[in-house]
Amino acid sequence: TASVMAIGLAACSSGAGEAAGESDEGSGEKRVFKVAFNQNAAHPQAQAILALSDELEAQTDGQYSLELYPDATLGTQEATIEQIQSGTIDFAFVAGSLLESFSSDVAVVNLPYIYESPEHQMEVLNDDAIVGDLYDSLLEDDIKVLAAAHAGVRNMYTDKPIESPDDLAGYKIRVIGSDTNVRMMELMGGSAAPMAMGEVYTAIQSGVIDGAENNEVTYFDVSHYEVAPFYSATKHLMLPDFFIASPKTWDSLDEETRELFEELLDGAVEDVLHNFAVAAEEAQEKAEDGGAEFVDADAEAFREAVLPLHEEVVTTSAMEEIYDAIESARG
Ligand code: GCU
Repeated sequence: TASVMAIGLAACSSGAGEAAGESDEGSGEKRVFKVAFNQNAAHPQAQAILALSDELEAQTDGQYSLELYPDATLGTQEATIEQIQSGTIDFAFVAGSLLESFSSDVAVVNLPYIYESPEHQMEVLNDDAIVGDLYDSLLEDDIKVLAAAHAGVRNMYTDKPIESPDDLAGYKIRVIGSDTNVRMMELMGGSAAPMAMGEVYTAIQSGVIDGAENNEVTYFDVSHYEVAPFYSATKHLMLPDFFIASPKTWDSLDEETRELFEELLDGAVEDVLHNFAVAAEEAQEKAEDGGAEFVDADAEAFREAVLPLHEEVVTTSAMEEIYDAIESARG
C-alpha cells in the first residue's frame, strides 16, 4: 500500500526523504547525500564531485558529505531525473537535452555550434543574470539546477568516416532524447534514434542503429569505439551537463551550507573545465590503441547544414534574450 511504500522509500533514502522541509541548522545530524552519475568515477565530473565532497565534509566538521553512485548504478539519466523529482536521489549530473522535456526553453543552451569555446560556454551558463530565470523555471518540475558543467565536444562515430553531411545519408544515429537533437541529426544528413546512453552499445552491435555521437571520454569509457571505430571531427555539439538537486534536499539545508555548497560547486565547475581536454586526449589515445580511427570532417559544412535549427528553436522572447547574451559573450 501507499503508506508502506512511503516508509520503505524513506528508509532507503540517505536524506532527502527523511529531512524533507526541515532545516538541519544546529541539529548536527550527519547526512550523506546520494549523487547519481552515469559514467565511471575517473570521469572529470565525478572527480570534481568527489573533491567537492571532501571539502564539504571538512568544512562542515563531518556533517555533510556526498556518496557518488557511478556507472549508472541508480539508473539511466532519464530515470535519475525522476528520482531527483521525488527526492529519493539528492543530486545528479544530467545532459542538458533531457531537461528540454520539462522546459522547452532549455533547448536554447543546447544548440549545436553555439559556443566558441568551453570557456565561453561556462561563462554564460553559470551567469545568473543570463540563465537564472531559465533554471528557476525547472523548479515547477521539482528540479533545482545548481550548476552547468563542461562535457566536452561531441563528434560523430560509425563504421566509416563521416566527412560531410552526404556521408550520413541512410545512417541512423543515436541522439540523446530531445526533439532538437532529432532535428539536428536530420539537418546533418542522417536520421535520429533517441535512446539512453546505456542502450547504445548493443543497439550498434546488433545493427539497430549505425552509430552515435559523443565526446571522446564517453566514446572510450563506455566502449563505443569497439562497435563504431571511425570517429569523425564534426564538432557539432558542446552540450552542457547540469548538476541538479532535489529541491527537497536543497531546501532542507540551512543558508550557510547552501552558500558553501555553491561556492564549492564553482570550484568543481572550474576543475571540470580545466581537466576535460586532457581526459579527452587520453581517451582518444586509448581508443586508438583499441583500434579506433580519428578522422577529420568538414565541420563548416555541418555547421551550415544545421544552422537553421537556431531559428527553428529560438521562438520565445526568453530564449531570444539568452541567445543574444550567448552571442555577445563571444570573445
Ligand atoms: C555525455 C554527457 C552525459 C550524457 C552522455 C549521453 O557523456 O556528459 O551526460 O549522458 O553524453 O550521450 O547520453
